[in-house]
Amino acid sequence: MNNPVRLEKDTEVAVIIIDNPPVNALSQAVRAGILEAIEAADSDPEVAAIVLRCAGRTFIAGADIREFGKPLAAPDLVSVIARIEGASKPVVAAIHGTALGGGFEITLGCHYRCASPAARVGFPEVKLGILPGAGGTQRLPRLTGIGTALEVIVSGDPVPAPRACEMGAIDEIIDGDLATGAIAAARRLVAEKTPLRRTGELPLDGSALPDGFFASFRARIAARTRGQFAPERCIRAVEGGLAASSFEEGRRNERALFEECLKSPESAALRTMFFAERQCARIPGIDRDTAKRDIGTAAVIGAGTMGGGIAMNFANAGIPVTVVERDREALDRGLAVIRGNYERSAKRGRITEAEATARMALIHPALDMAQVAGADIIIEAVFENMAIKKQVFAALDKVARAGAILATNTSTLDVDEIAATTARPGDVIGTHFFSPANVMRLLEVVRGRKTEKEVIATAMGLAKKIGKTAVLSGVCYGFIGNRMLEGYLREANLLLLEGATPSRVDKVLYDFGFPMGPFAMSDLAGIDVGYLVRQERRPLIEVDKTYGAPGDALYRMGRLGLKTGAGYFRYDKDNRTPQPDPVVEALIVDEAKRLAITRRDIDDGEILERCLLPLVNEGALILDEGIALRGGDIDVVWNYGYGFPRYRGGPMFWADATGLADILARIEKYRARFGDRHWTPAPLIERLAASGGRLSDYQENPS
Ligand SMILES: NC(=O)c1ccc[n+]([C@@H]2O[C@H](COP(=O)([O-])OP(=O)(O)OC[C@H]3O[C@@H](n4cnc5c(N)ncnc54)[C@H](O)[C@@H]3O)[C@@H](O)[C@H]2O)c1
Repeated sequence: MNNPVRLEKDTEVAVIIIDNPPVNALSQAVRAGILEAIEAADSDPEVAAIVLRCAGRTFIAGADIREFGKPLAAPDLVSVIARIEGASKPVVAAIHGTALGGGFEITLGCHYRCASPAARVGFPEVKLGILPGAGGTQRLPRLTGIGTALEVIVSGDPVPAPRACEMGAIDEIIDGDLATGAIAAARRLVAEKTPLRRTGELPLDGSALPDGFFASFRARIAARTRGQFAPERCIRAVEGGLAASSFEEGRRNERALFEECLKSPESAALRTMFFAERQCARIPGIDRDTAKRDIGTAAVIGAGTMGGGIAMNFANAGIPVTVVERDREALDRGLAVIRGNYERSAKRGRITEAEATARMALIHPALDMAQVAGADIIIEAVFENMAIKKQVFAALDKVARAGAILATNTSTLDVDEIAATTARPGDVIGTHFFSPANVMRLLEVVRGRKTEKEVIATAMGLAKKIGKTAVLSGVCYGFIGNRMLEGYLREANLLLLEGATPSRVDKVLYDFGFPMGPFAMSDLAGIDVGYLVRQERRPLIEVDKTYGAPGDALYRMGRLGLKTGAGYFRYDKDNRTPQPDPVVEALIVDEAKRLAITRRDIDDGEILERCLLPLVNEGALILDEGIALRGGDIDVVWNYGYGFPRYRGGPMFWADATGLADILARIEKYRARFGDRHWTPAPLIERLAASGGRLSDYQENPS
């Protein structure tokens, strides 16, 4: 392999260029190359200063995370950075694109940092359950002060270069050509005989910190990063640096904490999720060469809860979108909601007033289906009713231009049946957005039996363009996410009848790491939504009289959830915090009596298992049927769509971490108690438990 690092000279300035496409990841070869180049430049008597920069679209965007968990091949990053910092001549980092993780740490070892205005720097390590382990937690606080550095390290979010400059992490923003500017900076340092500024030798001063700073920072972060391991270790690393008698002692403490993080189950889960998320975009039979259709304009049918949010996604990405409603009133209402959302974003400073106006101008309201004739993609988001959807698709078939993609946002209905109402089923696909559609990251792309490859490829590409993480699903009731949700909610409701309360069940799932429990979630989504979903399936579920009984009873009482101030919980005006409601508890007791269920004390362990095991079992069926391509895809759906705690992976990873033999035994335990109907183990779990395989790695036809 070619050396990914080369050394050039601009008279007395040596320029070290890292060229390791696509993102200049810090592989062993890059580390070795930098070390060798620094040695050569430092010992060359003709060289007065050194510039370190990257070729391609970015500075070093991070470590090569495939090297994690493997014995690290020399040289390690700590030694490389120490050698840079120890150089006898000024070393200038020239940052463009992103300098993240180890890339940012390298720049902190340089004596001077300059950056393009659009560059960003940061430490995303915490998002992988680790911490910057090559001096980052020791050097950054020496440049920016402790409080600022802690925010950067614990948030994991990239910092724009101009802000990093204000913080003291970057010395100069270069507007023109970065390479030229960096060389000029190096010459200036030489000409002005500026003493070498070695970050590791700067004092770390905590004297300005208010009393109790670490305690209050810690408490705030603990509340924000519930259940996670790494954020507290980041704090300890910085705090340890302050307590240490030398930079080296602080760095050794950082290293020990880094190793602890690396071994933690949370980090294993987060790293697996990182790869799973990237893997989702890979679809067997579809590759770079698969043709894609151009999406220059879009249309959405229906401006309700989902249609409005979907339209905003297009406008946010600069794609003009026509929104069609059935009458003026519904159209005006839908547009007013969109306008309100943009105005709120502008008021909160998330976008400028001008951006809000520009985005609104890309949304064209219409009452006539003929207005979508020119759109490249049309997404239907009308009521969840097959007859209505069929009418809409028949109408679209008449007006849409040849080659337009016809998509449905249905949550549960059969995409093939919808496609069959058109003369172009190959152009029909499901695009299942999550609510609120302008906020939620997940998009399930539903492939029909006849959907053409280029339509799938286009939908996956479009998802990326509008900032979504897309997961491919086959056609089945509820696709990946909602099909699994059914068992989760079924057991949660049954637990109420058997003796639990909504707040107890919700607390158990909240403590597991979900942002909210199943009942707060049901209240948020609307009790009527769940009721109507069950209604569609009554013939299938009516053998089981207990099914969804508490939810049905709430619906009949008109307790439709948060929007009516009462559902499984009650809500004070202008306060979304769920409050336990004795009325609901009495109602549950009555329902249990009516259904002849004897209530008992149920422990937290059972509550958790009863809710999570159905997710695992249904997920395994979905995998075996080929509805999901990979176990990791399911985990991504549950993380982004339903808030399954990322630091526990997803349901598939959680099952693997628990042990599939153990999972199987637990399912069997409930089967013995409740019968086969809901508790027959998925054959895939039996097979993998026997063979020692894993659900999260499982994929049917690896390409
Ligand atoms: N609400 C959710 O959380 C959610 C999540 C994912 C998917 N979905 C799915 O999205 C779709 C829409 O759901 P929603 O919650 O936005 O419903 P909604 O009732 O809020 O909006 C539906 C809109 O479609 C309009 N409409 C009905 N028939 C029409 C027609 N023939 N032409 C033009 N407009 C028409 C209605 O006037 C209404 O404004 C459904 O298929 C639903 O299952 C909903």
